[in-house]
Amino acid sequence: MGIKDYYDKLAKSYDNLYKNKYMRVVEREIIKREIKDDDFVLDIGCGTGEQLKILKNAIGLDISIEMAKIANKKTNKPVVVANAEFLPFKNKSFDKAISFFGALNHCNINRALREVNRVLKDDGVFIFTVANIYDMKWIIKNILKGNFKKVKNAMKKRKGTITKVVEGEKIKVKTRFYDFKEVEEALKKEGFEIIYTFGANITNSPLDKFLYKSFFKNFASYIGFVAKKSK
Ligand SMILES: C[S@@+](CC[C@H](N)C(=O)[O-])C[C@H]1O[C@@H](n2cnc3c(N)ncnc32)[C@H](O)[C@@H]1O
Repeated sequence: MGIKDYYDKLAKSYDNLYKNKYMRVVEREIIKREIKDDDFVLDIGCGTGEQLKILKNAIGLDISIEMAKIANKKTNKPVVVANAEFLPFKNKSFDKAISFFGALNHCNINRALREVNRVLKDDGVFIFTVANIYDMKWIIKNILKGNFKKVKNAMKKRKGTITKVVEGEKIKVKTRFYDFKEVEEALKKEGFEIIYTFGANITNSPLDKFLYKSFFKNFASYIGFVAKKSK
């Protein structure tokens, strides 16, 4: 199934399905640290508006019209339906851009980073997370279930499939996993300089608020980047 169809079908159940409470705590902490009230922000893959709702001066963007409709209704902010690989904005439009929990798992990351770089002002900052290939909770869970082949394949190909059941229908979408090194190289190539990195959903407990910048970020479900436009 294509990304648009998958998220269109998932939209109504999304908020009930994803209640990663402590991942949200870390995301909010980073937003609070890095984004000022008067920054003009683009939220890429805004989904149902989980981050958009706490930003003061922002536009959402999502490839799924059904997700975009929910975000717009929930946040009362403008939401554009578009692909992160082809951003419909002029050069140097935004002070900051964010993309949390997934849009970049379904993209050509270099293409998306190039576009973000283009629409950011000089010294603009991009803050985002992508799925981690070394997600320890996922690896342990699958090994305990005997799914060795699934783990081996994910490690080797850096690809996987997300499956959900919505109103009795099984829906699937292809996804991509990354490691720090690969994203760091892509950021450098596309004109960004890393300020710091972090992990989101390490233990999925209150500990995450203290661990997100520690060595344990390497085993988080999502790896995060705060990067400044350098050229
Ligand atoms: C897992 S959701 C995350 C939503 C939200 N940021 C959150 O934290 O809950 C991923 C979102 O990215 C969107 N998305 C996926 N690929 C995209 C692309 N290439 N361009 C724009 N949005 C995309 C999906 O439609 C979906 O709403």
